[in-house]
Amino acid sequence: MNKIFPSDFLWGASTSAYQVEGAAYEDGKKASQQDIINKDSYEKFGFATAEIASDEYHHYKEDVALMKEMGFRCYRFSIAWSRVFPDGVGEVNEKGIQYYRDLIHELKENGIEPIVTLYHYDCPWALVEKYGGWLDRRIVKDFEYYARYVINEFKDDVKYWTTINEQSIIVQYWTQKCYIPEELLDGKHNQLRYQINHYMNLAHAIACNLVHELVPGGLVGAPLGYSCIYPLSSKADDVMAMQNAQALRNDYYTDIYFKGEYNKAAQIYLEKHGLAPVIEEGDMELIASGKSDFLALNYYASECACACPDDGTYKMRWSGVNRSGKKGDISGFETHPGFYQMCKNPKLDTTDWDWAIDPIGMEYMLRDLYNNYNKPLMITENGLGAYDTLTDDRKIHDDYRIDYLKKHIAAMGKAMEYGVEMIAYCPWSAVDLLSTSNGVKKRYGFIYVDRTDDDPKQCERIRKDSFYWYQKVIESNGEEL
Ligand code: BG6
Repeated sequence: MNKIFPSDFLWGASTSAYQVEGAAYEDGKKASQQDIINKDSYEKFGFATAEIASDEYHHYKEDVALMKEMGFRCYRFSIAWSRVFPDGVGEVNEKGIQYYRDLIHELKENGIEPIVTLYHYDCPWALVEKYGGWLDRRIVKDFEYYARYVINEFKDDVKYWTTINEQSIIVQYWTQKCYIPEELLDGKHNQLRYQINHYMNLAHAIACNLVHELVPGGLVGAPLGYSCIYPLSSKADDVMAMQNAQALRNDYYTDIYFKGEYNKAAQIYLEKHGLAPVIEEGDMELIASGKSDFLALNYYASECACACPDDGTYKMRWSGVNRSGKKGDISGFETHPGFYQMCKNPKLDTTDWDWAIDPIGMEYMLRDLYNNYNKPLMITENGLGAYDTLTDDRKIHDDYRIDYLKKHIAAMGKAMEYGVEMIAYCPWSAVDLLSTSNGVKKRYGFIYVDRTDDDPKQCERIRKDSFYWYQKVIESNGEEL
């Protein structure tokens, strides 16, 4: 590859608080909704809970040292709202905020730029108990209280801020990402998915404004879960279905971030089916006021859509999940009769969890988004969830992960050759962590964490083969893949 990456390109990796930190109830932290959602996941699925995760809370110095050894120029992580404000609002937890001061200090000392995500699925449980968390509009004010405190606290040390992780994925997998009481799961309450998203749009705009108000030279954007979408065939109705899916699954979010408005086709579809959010006076003005400086993208896989007739054969549904890690075991595809249905792309291989492996999709996505909105982009997640084997001599030969990342970096490079402006590449994940849907056996990291779903052991850190490979990539500024 020809010197396509600028010398200040930010190479690093990502994690999120509840998936990596552990110490779920230590030093004053109280439960987040993820501690509660995952409470029974061992009994139900054999997956670890979030209580210990990768224990980064106690290993952060070691982790930062390993990041430094890999040559990281940035680290994207999230702040746990319930560590800073155990009750969501009110008194700050001094020990909780101190943890992030220490982490950020450690990163800066090692020349690693922190990229902070304000919210990654982990609403304080206290707010869920008080009014249902994101189900209630009061969350927007409380989020503002939290965000203002954190942004102000780190205004001199953090330049790059990302707001709310993956609103698109929260709409699809709302019970995994938000605590939704049983009585709302009878299929009549799906409008709430979009109502939650609307409150998050308000919160996102507030966070953008706060960064611009408080952080000298600060830059802010949403970290969005994004997959480009192909039509299943070249039949006109499949291509139309692809456009419909693009509107509801992607443009519905990016139009908010960059145009300050809901995508028209998507909103009309939602209105027709009683799913559109209730919008109060002043909401759209607030949304439009929150300007994004960049878009952060979490890209793992491309998607495929096909036509779906509205003849009574199909029922509306949202995305299914593969819990077993056996290919083909996915529990279903998002379906909107008369608009589109998502389906398997027969032309692409998948991971064991049925995620299509598609580096070209990365180039396609980056070029498409840059064409549409003309804003710099960063990759804040990209990676291969896989079973890793720890050999008897304590090595991890993850050539499959190297292959995946290599091809995706090359695809990003191609997009850049065609003019796309990229700020950072932060694959998922720096260290192994708790998957949101598949326990710790589905691994993503460059750094192996020696624990299983059954036994947290000591969470010893071990460098994988991909660790040494990524070190070279960074050292050569992306030239040596
Ligand atoms: C992204 C999330 O959707 O995908 C991460 O931002 C998550 O939190 C990652 O871990 C991979 O998904 P999973 O379900 O394998 O953890």
